[in-house]
Amino acid sequence: MKIGIIGAGHVGLVTGACFADLGHQVMMVDDDRRKVAALRAGRVPFFEPGLEELVRRGMAHGRLRVTRAIPEAVDCSTLLFVCVGTPTRPNGEADLSAVETVTRRIARSMRAYRLVVEKSTVPVQTGAWMRRTLREMVRRGVDCDVASNPEFLREGCAIQDFLHPDRIVIGAESERARRLLVDLYTPFHAPLVVTDVSSAELLKHASNSFLALKISYINAVAQVCERVGADVVKVADGMGLDRRIGRAFLDAGVGWGGSCFSKDVAAFTRIATAHRCDASLLRAAAGINRRQRPYAVARLRRLLGPLRGRTVGVLGLAFKPDTDDLRDAPALDIVPKLRAAGARVRVFDPKAMPAAKKLLGRGVTFCRNAYEAARGADAVMLLTEWNEFKELDVTRMASLMRQPVVFDGRNLYDPAAMRRAGMRYAGIGRGQMQQTAHSTQHTEKAGKKR
Ligand SMILES: NC(=O)c1ccc[n+]([C@@H]2O[C@H](COP(=O)([O-])OP(=O)(O)OC[C@H]3O[C@@H](n4cnc5c(N)ncnc54)[C@H](O)[C@@H]3O)[C@@H](O)[C@H]2O)c1
Repeated sequence: MKIGIIGAGHVGLVTGACFADLGHQVMMVDDDRRKVAALRAGRVPFFEPGLEELVRRGMAHGRLRVTRAIPEAVDCSTLLFVCVGTPTRPNGEADLSAVETVTRRIARSMRAYRLVVEKSTVPVQTGAWMRRTLREMVRRGVDCDVASNPEFLREGCAIQDFLHPDRIVIGAESERARRLLVDLYTPFHAPLVVTDVSSAELLKHASNSFLALKISYINAVAQVCERVGADVVKVADGMGLDRRIGRAFLDAGVGWGGSCFSKDVAAFTRIATAHRCDASLLRAAAGINRRQRPYAVARLRRLLGPLRGRTVGVLGLAFKPDTDDLRDAPALDIVPKLRAAGARVRVFDPKAMPAAKKLLGRGVTFCRNAYEAARGADAVMLLTEWNEFKELDVTRMASLMRQPVVFDGRNLYDPAAMRRAGMRYAGIGRGQMQQTAHSTQHTEKAGKKR
């Protein structure tokens, strides 16, 4: 098929490169001059495993092209996927200005039937607005449809997720639109959920919000675990074996980040409130998540005492492993809080260092690896669960630190193994180990008195 993709970001570029690899003719559009230049040179301007290779292959075979001009894509494509960003406005609602601009530009360029597909995450009824706008603006006699095809890929494994999704959601109003999308996606051999546009739009917000609720729920459970001396990892493992619950997204930690969860929960809250529905569950989830970040700093203070003059090594800055994406990353809140408390901060992330240098700026030492970040530190804080951090030589790390203290903000480590390596360990909701650390402190103090 002939496909246009508007917005060559994390979703659009993966979508375009995968469709091209499956044999479709794809025209990518982005209004970011530098991004287009990089792509034309075969470079992907962000880190996503396997994507650069896929983009290069698509270009080499002439199936993937890139332009800055929307009319070029509209001319040569029957399906136009809108994949632009939908960030949050200060009041919590989704900023749809990019979707609106793109919709109007498409309308002005349309000379024959086109199916415009919203892949960006948008509030319910955005599709209806797009359809009205297109029909008002297109020249007389030209037919068009709007469909919804929300995306569920995860950064870091985006290609795998795109090509092998749990389900593909198609929201369409006309038989023609439905048929085009069903034909496009049938070769994926994934369950197809074919519905109306509003249900498809809502399904995306409801899914993301539910995943966010799960994370906040386990973080709330973790608080209780911490107080009563239970281990949230064991609790989550046991809960997760129940097929009605499932283990995914039950990892306690410093909370969710990234470009989607906070904005989608906020947008869904706005929609629910606007329709006078109960959004208290969503608000509670967002509140719990927000408080995990100051909590992480407070927890470190409990371990070290006042942070002024202390050195803290931070491992991991990206909002999740296998990406360099820093959008709404907990580290962007936690590192400035450590600095404000008077700590010296040494940071390392396997992929996000260039972007972090721009955002975290002065007063932070950017290190070449995890050991360098730990050197001379009074504590190490793990904020992103990169695999390479799991494989660190903990004994070596402890020997480099001024005090062997680890705050594991993602519960990545085995507390017993940490203790054996000589570390004082605190995770999130790992009450037993924290009691041990606490009692170690008591023993130390008692020893000094003696
Ligand atoms: N990132 C994810 O993991 C993910 C997953 C599922 C859904 N989504 C949703 O997909 C949408 C896109 O997210 P993303 O992470 O790919 O965003 P992104 O910021 O990485 O990419 C958006 C792209 O659109 C381009 N753009 C903006 N306005 C434009 C215009 N007028 N004309 C042409 N190009 C324009 C930008 O330059 C950018 O390259 C969002 O609604 C997001 O919520 C994201």
